[in-house]
Amino acid sequence: MNTEFPRNALIGLALLAASSTVLADAKDDAMRHLASKSGCFICHGIELDAKGPDGLKPVGPPWKAIAARYKGDKNAPKNLTAAVMGGTSPYSRHWKEEASGVAMPPNGVAIREDDARKLVDWILKLK
Ligand code: HEC
Repeated sequence: MNTEFPRNALIGLALLAASSTVLADAKDDAMRHLASKSGCFICHGIELDAKGPDGLKPVGPPWKAIAARYKGDKNAPKNLTAAVMGGTSPYSRHWKEEASGVAMPPNGVAIREDDARKLVDWILKLK
């Protein structure tokens, strides 16, 4: 009787599980890298308890708060990509209570629109 089969099958399953975790992490790393090189983390944190440089409110809203607020909003990917590229208005602040910055400057100098859209799609999926 070949006792090797179940053992190999188990190793195969373990490798499969490990590689799918690696893929998910790799995507996360790529998005974090993109956000970092585009300067987003100067003002934003990811976690809900992200703090600003002075230990008070962060300059921009935590990305997990953005995901929660726009959950189920079909226009969010398009609208938020436009906000990232073109900036927001200090006269209609969306995050008055949660962020200390009065407006987001246009990021079009730092990031391409297709990359901004990828980041926004990733931000909206954060849990
Ligand atoms: C100089 C600081 C700064 C930088 C850099 C910055 N943001 Fe922001 N961001 C803000 C502030 C402040 C707000 C909140 C604006 C408001 O209250 O309407 C904001 C809001 C947002 C929102 C929510 C917009 C809305 O309408 O609710 C998203 C999404 C976002 N930022 C993504 C990004 C991404 C992606 C980058 C990097 C490409 C980035 N931000 C870079 C300061 C910044």
